[in-house]
Amino acid sequence: MGRSWGFLVGLLGAAWLLRSGDGGQQGPETAAQRCFCQVSGYLDDCTCDVETIDRFNNYRLFPRLQKLLESDYFRYYKVNLKRPCPFWNDINQCGRRDCAVKPCHSDEVPDGIKSASYKYSEEANLIEECEQAERLGAVDESLSEETQKAVLQWTKHDDSSDSFCEVDDIQSPDAEYVDLLLNPERYTGYKGPDAWKIWNVIYEENCFKPQTIKRPLTPLASGQGKSEENTFYSWLEGLCVEKRAFYRLISGLHASINVHLSARYLLKETWLEKKWGHNVTEFQQRFDGILTEGEGPRRLKNLYFLYLIELRALSKVLPFFERPDFQLFTGNKVQDAENKMLLLEILHDIKSFPLHFDENSFFAGDKKEAHKLKEDFRLHFRNISRIMDCVGCFKCRLWGKLQTQGLGTALKILFSEKLIANMPESGPSYEFYLTRQEIVSLFNAFGRISTSVRELENFRNLLQNIH
Ligand SMILES: *[C@@H]1O[C@H](CO)[C@@H](O)[C@H](O)[C@H]1NC(C)=O
Ligand SMILES: *[C@@H]1O[C@H](CO)[C@@H](O)[C@H](O)[C@H]1NC(C)=O
Repeated sequence: MGRSWGFLVGLLGAAWLLRSGDGGQQGPETAAQRCFCQVSGYLDDCTCDVETIDRFNNYRLFPRLQKLLESDYFRYYKVNLKRPCPFWNDINQCGRRDCAVKPCHSDEVPDGIKSASYKYSEEANLIEECEQAERLGAVDESLSEETQKAVLQWTKHDDSSDSFCEVDDIQSPDAEYVDLLLNPERYTGYKGPDAWKIWNVIYEENCFKPQTIKRPLTPLASGQGKSEENTFYSWLEGLCVEKRAFYRLISGLHASINVHLSARYLLKETWLEKKWGHNVTEFQQRFDGILTEGEGPRRLKNLYFLYLIELRALSKVLPFFERPDFQLFTGNKVQDAENKMLLLEILHDIKSFPLHFDENSFFAGDKKEAHKLKEDFRLHFRNISRIMDCVGCFKCRLWGKLQTQGLGTALKILFSEKLIANMPESGPSYEFYLTRQEIVSLFNAFGRISTSVRELENFRNLLQNIH
């Protein structure tokens, strides 16, 4: 860790000098180079390169992941979009049609999804019995010995201490199923001050950043300059690797959302039809190295960083999905079995990725300090999941909540001590547990990032034709 870290700081420093030193004197760069030339080779804080990710994602993973996400199990997500914003109350409900989310009629959602998951097997019935017992409170004498043992294990998976997100109460009457395929993440027109405010609060108050240090190119702040950019990045580089990672995950999420909005831009609207597609200008405004004073390529690198974190979580959680009693339960036995096979295929493929992120470098120092840091990290992240209830545009709120829950689930997997201590490759433990909501959000969130990486290739090609 120490070695690679020092090496990376050196590399970053060199890149910085190069970039700020002779910016204008190189030959004219093409539009594609201005977004992508720094987005290649090795990524900071890990030993993986962009090209390996591109190949792996775009040709192997992406097509099959899309297929999986179209299945009934993954397309229905239950969400409460009516939770009040806990931080301020002047939310501008933008009232745009493209922001609307159409919830499902209850008869659209398969019964198997609406009832509990885990069916089809003895063991599953046992678990259900345990769940019930757990709800009733204590371990009852009348339960069989086997059940009691399972209940004891089960109660251990009260994982509030593992959870990185404030999750919706999905039993609430306000929570509704949403068909994600019918409500795709795309351009809604939600931008400007309202959207800035959300991101600003996220970055300013929840990324470990002291107020005195200004983030470069903050639309709501004035008087920005090179020196502020310098201060910001030397502050960031001075942080411990975990806090820097936190910032990079948020920045990566932000970048991914903006890639989507640029790739599914509302290009044309008549009363007959709407046409959505790539808007290269919009992409450049967010990612071009010159137009964004160097911020764009950094954002794209953070997107890859986020990709690696979620990829690593998926490879690590494989044993949980391999449990024989685990089902992607919708009630359609044949379909469910096929989906599970596809899911495992994808996860095995992910596991075979050669350059996984090494999360063991996180929270690795002094035990007490590491514990406190992890707790800090968790609280900040939970806060961000609450901020999502303040997003004025419902479509954006839906995808914001889903993606933060997905990333939160990935972090829960990466840092769960239960998983670390109790999940040897062969015998998965019953103490670790994911709810259907967590599973759906985890895979859909990763599906978004995977789509963004795929879209970068499209933009690279489109930019090739522009100077
Ligand atoms: C949570 O977010 C609110 C609103 O931005 C902020 O006032 C508060 O300090 C944050 N708490 C933490 C632990 O980050
Ligand atoms: C593409 O985005 C730019 C910048 O946001 C905008 O001005 C332009 O109208 C968009 N183009 C189309 C075809 O919508």
